[in-house]
Amino acid sequence: MTDAPPGHSQDEVERPVRLLAMGGSTRPESTTERALAMVAEGARTAGADVDVICGRELMLPIYDTETDERVSGAVRLVEAVRRADGLVLVSPGYHGAISGLVKNAVDYFEDLSGDPRPYLHGMAVGCVAVADGWQASVTTLHQLRQVAHALRGWPTPLGVAVNSKSDRLLSPDTHDAHQLHLVGEQVVQFARMYRGAEATP
Ligand SMILES: Cc1cc2nc3c(=O)[nH]c(=O)nc-3n(C[C@H](O)[C@H](O)[C@H](O)COP(=O)(O)O)c2cc1C
Repeated sequence: MTDAPPGHSQDEVERPVRLLAMGGSTRPESTTERALAMVAEGARTAGADVDVICGRELMLPIYDTETDERVSGAVRLVEAVRRADGLVLVSPGYHGAISGLVKNAVDYFEDLSGDPRPYLHGMAVGCVAVADGWQASVTTLHQLRQVAHALRGWPTPLGVAVNSKSDRLLSPDTHDAHQLHLVGEQVVQFARMYRGAEATP
């Protein structure tokens, strides 16, 4: 057992890493949601507790800068980010870019701007994009990583671009499945490293 540093309880140092996995599309059981589930599985295998907010749960009103009033789904999302050590962001590629559903949900992270830990400061962010071709999956993956940087997060070294026209799409033991698991593991590994670094006087 390590001693807790000032400002950190022993429970806080030793509790499991908490992740939020968010994304998907409006289509129930979408390919994007399946990819998200595989990342979450990798993170759980690595020992994390994983909250999932996906698909139609992300159908929130357009983020409104002119009011502090938020619907319950938005409050839940922001609270889930606040309590997480790491984030998994999964978007379909729509017209070569992050879907409006996912980007609007991320816009709500603006409500974290005044927090002691603003935005995604100190959080690993695993990014995954799914599209019907490589062009949109790769450009969307790149955008997700840029958004993570803009919000002071740390994109994991590995991100995954999934081509939903692939023959063995997301079957177990495929290259995609292994890579998605690995993204989940990397988010957990970074969260542990960051917590260790923060705990070092
Ligand atoms: C509005 C819209 C725009 C799309 N634009 C593209 C695109 O530019 N390139 C592409 O490869 N796929 C495009 N797609 C296909 C989605 O990327 C693909 O259906 C998605 O990756 C998998 O959908 P699912 O997660 O809902 O199953 C588009 C789909 C929709 C609905």
